[in-house]
Amino acid sequence: MRKPFVAGNWKMNTDNHSSVNLAQSIASGSSEIAEKSVSMAVFPPFVYLPSVIKALNVSNIAAGAQDFYFEQNGAFTGEISVSMLKDIGCTFVLCGHSERRHVIGETDELINKKVAAAISGGLLPVLCVGELLDERKASQTNEVVTRQVKNGLAGLSAEKISAVTIAYEPVWAIGTGLTATPQQAQEAHELVRKLLAKMYDARLAEEIRILYGGSAKPDNAAELMAQQDVDGLLVGGASLNADDFLAIIRAAV
Ligand code: 13P
Repeated sequence: MRKPFVAGNWKMNTDNHSSVNLAQSIASGSSEIAEKSVSMAVFPPFVYLPSVIKALNVSNIAAGAQDFYFEQNGAFTGEISVSMLKDIGCTFVLCGHSERRHVIGETDELINKKVAAAISGGLLPVLCVGELLDERKASQTNEVVTRQVKNGLAGLSAEKISAVTIAYEPVWAIGTGLTATPQQAQEAHELVRKLLAKMYDARLAEEIRILYGGSAKPDNAAELMAQQDVDGLLVGGASLNADDFLAIIRAAV
């Protein structure tokens, strides 16, 4: 039985004060929710991670980074390593978010290096995949998602990928209010799970959590998570409001 997982990706939002307030509100609002019923995490901007981690305090909410670089250390101006993130108390990292693929230009090859580096360094990667609107219109969704999952996990053993969470985030649904229907989400998630069973084995595929992301909101969260292969949500905009994010978490329990 997969434990649901609800995570908030704050993207390039909040400031010193509001990031701490948001973390505190989420921490206190979720104190009644048993850790065994749902995994929770937030992904603030790098610079606010230490104060957010402090504000999360003894709550059951983990912290993660939105990005990092795969090298261990050295002359990589501007980059942040896995060990630095571990050092300040991060648990998770996003790899290959669509904004990094399509705005910053990250390739499958770079994303694969990041997934491998995160696992080796002891962080839990959330590998994000998803098709563009034109790709969906051209019936290429399965092909694109298959390619991104295969390339993102290339060269990783079954033992290693048990640390991975997959997030299916159709690009056309991100920040647009155009949420995928529960059926569209389920189809893509089922595709990913079958692919994992083929690449590794059925038991492992049953254990890996696959989250949906793309305009997830309190009013569509329960319906999305009711789908057999939707194991939780990666929430953008709605995770910046503590009440909305907490409502989404409660829908997972
Ligand atoms: P929105 O929930 O704002 O559509 O963002 C989804 C997302 O990209 C989460 O990583």
